[in-house]
Amino acid sequence: MPHLLHLDSSADLTGSRSRAITAAFAKSWASRGDDHTITYRDLHTEPLPRLSTPALHWAPRLRRPDETVEPQDEALQQLILDELFAADVLLVGAPMYNYSLASTLKTWIDYVHVPGTTLTFDDVPSQPMAGRRAVVVTSAGGSYVEGSPTHGWDHLTPVLQIVLGTALGMEVTVISTELTLAPRIPDLAPQIPYSESLLTAAMERAAELGATV
Ligand SMILES: Cc1cc2nc3c(=O)[nH]c(=O)nc-3n(C[C@H](O)[C@H](O)[C@H](O)COP(=O)(O)O)c2cc1C
Repeated sequence: MPHLLHLDSSADLTGSRSRAITAAFAKSWASRGDDHTITYRDLHTEPLPRLSTPALHWAPRLRRPDETVEPQDEALQQLILDELFAADVLLVGAPMYNYSLASTLKTWIDYVHVPGTTLTFDDVPSQPMAGRRAVVVTSAGGSYVEGSPTHGWDHLTPVLQIVLGTALGMEVTVISTELTLAPRIPDLAPQIPYSESLLTAAMERAAELGATV
């Protein structure tokens, strides 16, 4: 049974672009049949607690003797890891907040980026998500493309590519939409039509990927 893990992290519950685009993907995925199942986790409405201890960053076998973890914290991390391991495809809604990740999504990353468990750290191969697909939907108020004054300021997309792609070995596809603040910032008003065209293209791409990955 192909299984999707769908994460959203936008704090905007009504007008969020990343939520709209991940929803388009999930709708397409679900329309493939009852065997295409979904686990949904809203990291904003049900935020995970911050890691209680740096010991959780390491696989149990790599922790130092003085590094202890409370059983309930270990159990929560295992739940989050099990949700990831069960996923054939991972879908992540990632709004840009202060040039970076929403803190709620960052916390999820803290739970799953675990040397010795999700990425290989020593001579024990440990990359269970290698080769699986991840679709990351980014949404930014400004523009970060080459030629824009803020080119190079996007510290959201590279983190997700490095963690999910390089470290966990997943095949990452990014659907990006930007200039979402064009209707709100007077200087960006001329970009409104372009911003809307980016949204339309992202919705179409998400629906297409949801039907095929
Ligand atoms: C706390 C916060 C910080 C933000 N920081 C940035 C930023 O650094 N750069 C930017 O381009 N837009 C920034 N924005 C605007 C969001 O990226 C934009 O509203 C985007 O559409 C959010 O994704 P969403 O539509 O899925 O909610 C910020 C918004 C919030 C709420």
